[in-house]
Formats: sequence, C-alpha cells, structure tokens
Amino acid sequence: MTDSAVLATREHWRTRGGFILASIGSAVGLGNIWRFAYVAGENGGGAFLIVYLLVVAAIGVPLVMAELAIGKRGASDAVAAFAALAPGAPWRYLGWLGFAGAALILSYYSVIAGWALRYFAISVSGNLWTGQTDGFDSHFQSFIADGVSPVGWHLAMIALTMVVVAGGVARGIERANMVLMPLLALTVVALAAYALSLPGSAKGVAFLFAPDWSAFGDSRMILAALGQAFFSIGVGMAVFVTYGGYMRREYGIPSAAITIAAGDTLFAVVAGLAIFPAVFAFGGDPAAGPALAFVTLPRVFLEMPAGAIVAPAFFLLLSAAALTSMVSLLQVPTAIAMRRWRLRRSTAVLSLGGAIAFVGIPWALSYGPFAGIAIAGVPLLDAIDYAVSNVLLPLSALGLAVFLGWVIAPAQASMLAEVGDARWAAVFVWLLRLIPVCILVLMIVQLSG
Ligand code: TRP
Repeated sequence: MTDSAVLATREHWRTRGGFILASIGSAVGLGNIWRFAYVAGENGGGAFLIVYLLVVAAIGVPLVMAELAIGKRGASDAVAAFAALAPGAPWRYLGWLGFAGAALILSYYSVIAGWALRYFAISVSGNLWTGQTDGFDSHFQSFIADGVSPVGWHLAMIALTMVVVAGGVARGIERANMVLMPLLALTVVALAAYALSLPGSAKGVAFLFAPDWSAFGDSRMILAALGQAFFSIGVGMAVFVTYGGYMRREYGIPSAAITIAAGDTLFAVVAGLAIFPAVFAFGGDPAAGPALAFVTLPRVFLEMPAGAIVAPAFFLLLSAAALTSMVSLLQVPTAIAMRRWRLRRSTAVLSLGGAIAFVGIPWALSYGPFAGIAIAGVPLLDAIDYAVSNVLLPLSALGLAVFLGWVIAPAQASMLAEVGDARWAAVFVWLLRLIPVCILVLMIVQLSG
C-alpha cells in the first residue's frame, strides 16, 4: 500500500461536532430549499408536512442508522464496508452503486447549484433587477437556454467542490462545514424572521402548517413525501456509509442519525418559513414548481423593501448549502478510488471531478442546444432527476434495508447500529424489514398509476 492509501484508511473526523455538522451539511442542500418548498406547495402544504414527518421518523432515521452502522464498522470506503460485512457476497455492489449513483447525482445537482451561484452573482452586481427587461420568467428561461453560461456555472460549482474534497476529511470537508453550516443556519433564521414580519405573511404560515385533509387520499402525495425524504436526507448513495467510516468509536450512531434527520427537517421547515410568507405577502404562486426559487422569489425580492440584502443572502444560502452536499457526494467515489486504485487524493479528486463535470455538460445544455433531445417529452435534466428520486434512490434504499434487515442477523444488526435497549432493537429491525415492503408497494402503485 502506498502512503496515501494507508492515510486514506486512517482518516477520521477531528470532533464529533464536526462529524455531525458535515453530515447535516450533506443532508441540507437544494433538496431543503429549492425542492422541499415546491414539492410541499404542490402536495397540500400542512398535510404533506405531516406525512413527511412520519416518513422521516419511520424510514429516514432507520436508514441513516443502517448506513452509519455499516460505515462505522467498515472504517473504510463504501465498497470495502459492504464487503467486510458480507465477504464474497454481491452486497458490495451496493457500494459500487453508491460510487456510480453519487457521481451521477453530482453531475446534474451541480447544474442547478450553478444556477443558484449565477443568481447570487447577479443579485450582488444588481443585474437581478436591471437585467430583467422582459420579466423574471423569460430572463430565467433565456439564461438556462444559453449554450455557454449554464455550463460555466456548473463547472464553477464542481471546481469549488473539488477544492474542498482535495483538502481531505478533517482539513477540507470538516473545516468547510464548520464555517458554512453555522452561517447557513443564521442566514435561514434571519430570512424567516424577516419574511414573518411582512404584512400578509400569516397566509404563508397557514399554507405550510394548515393541513389540507383532502390531500391525504392521494397516493402520489405519499410517494412525493417518500421521494423527498430520500433525496433531502440523502440516503441510498452510501454518503453516510462513507462519512460513518471516519467516525471515532465514541460517537454514537442512534443519536447521530436522529440529529441528522431532525436537523435536515428543521432546516427545510425554517426555509419554508422564509419562502412561503414572503411569496404570499407579495402575491406569488406557491406551487410554481422548480421555478419558485428562480422566478417567483426574485419577483418577491424586487418588491420587498430589503430585497437588495435578502436576495444575495438567499442565493448565497442556496449555493453554500448545495456545496456542502456536493462535497459529500464527491467523497463517496473519491474514498473508493483512493483505496481501490491506490490513487493519491489529488489524483482521485481531479480525475473523478473532471469526469463528473464532463458528464454534467448535457444536463447543463438540456434547455438550450440539447432541448431537442428529450426523454418522453421531458428535458434531460428533469428526466434524470425523476429517475434518480423515484427509481434509483428507492431501489438502493431497498437494497440497504434488505441487507441489514434480512441478510444480517437481527442481533448483529442492532449491535452494529448500537441499539442497546431490547425493545428499541426490535423496533429498529422490524422497521428495516418493513421498509422494503413499503417501497415496493409504493413503486408498484406508482408504475401502475
Ligand atoms: N440531501 C441533499 C439535498 O437535499 C442532496 C444529497 C446529498 C443527496 N447526498 C445525497 C441526495 C445522497 C441523494 C443521495 O440537497
């Protein structure tokens, strides 16, 4: 083994707080701000929130525990961690699925993160207001239809991600999260406080919290909650297997999993409180879809008195939250490549980052030069996001739950996850066993509907 490979297997978080912040940093991202707001908006607001909380507690927490347990035990990258628990068995391909899946998600996630970074830049320069001769919608449409600019901002986000990951687990990833996550929390709380102080904001709060009971009858809403929870917490792509691999023995697993899931959910709700009250106060459309962040909100920023401060703060928040998630996604294949092919960290980061940047170019062009290439009438970027959230993540989460719930003996599963209490251990194993059934039923309902 080369020196760097030895070092790679020995990397650890410097502090428990750093590990927790990095994990919440992975979970909190575009999913919480850009995606949660419009998925909740389209699925009945408060009714969606209730189902979402149930899904996070019953499915999200056990799956994060499962990933951390496998990672902590393996004390290595995702492929080695699965292989260590089931030598010679095909379960190590769940690690390779993480390698390919995390890289794939990163390749298109970066495109949307690039939009956020670009909107941050133009809100600082003032162009967000002056450059909007034809209105915010056509401005956004012509930006994403450009053949150069979206690619440039995508490459910029990948480059930032590579810089952080090249710094290593403690000195790069942990340090970046120690700085960015507290800033993020302050920003979103300040934005929410401001939005709530606007006249007419109560309607936005009601929208987020008042349940529309009729939405409960809709199976699509439950599916949306499931897909949103997987994406927002970020399970299924071995991120927490990888991050768990750098845990020190004294960091507990159940408390970490609960903190991560709760932190992610709290962040989404506070971000919702920053967005909906402002949207309602200025008469925007809460169900505007993905364009909410880039069309509806800029219009709101233009109207509000403190818009010149709120707009850059919001887009910086969006870009920084995306960055800490991208870092976790790049670390999954980086850790595998460093051990498996004995690469130096810088070599692994450069080659993987370069390949991912390249794969992302078609997604970045999917509303412009590549608009003609669509899958069943859906633009490439939307098609890949749909396939990832509704097929890839549920299937890999299913594999993970089957592995720890059915393949590994119950006593060992709860021991690995550090669930000491016998009753909780039974709950944990039975939840893991039920999760694959729930996922299968939901996927079948979805495919047949
Ligand atoms: N959770 C992040 C978000 O909400 C994105 C993310 C990070 C992710 N790691 C993941 C999504 C692993 C799926 C799988 O933006």
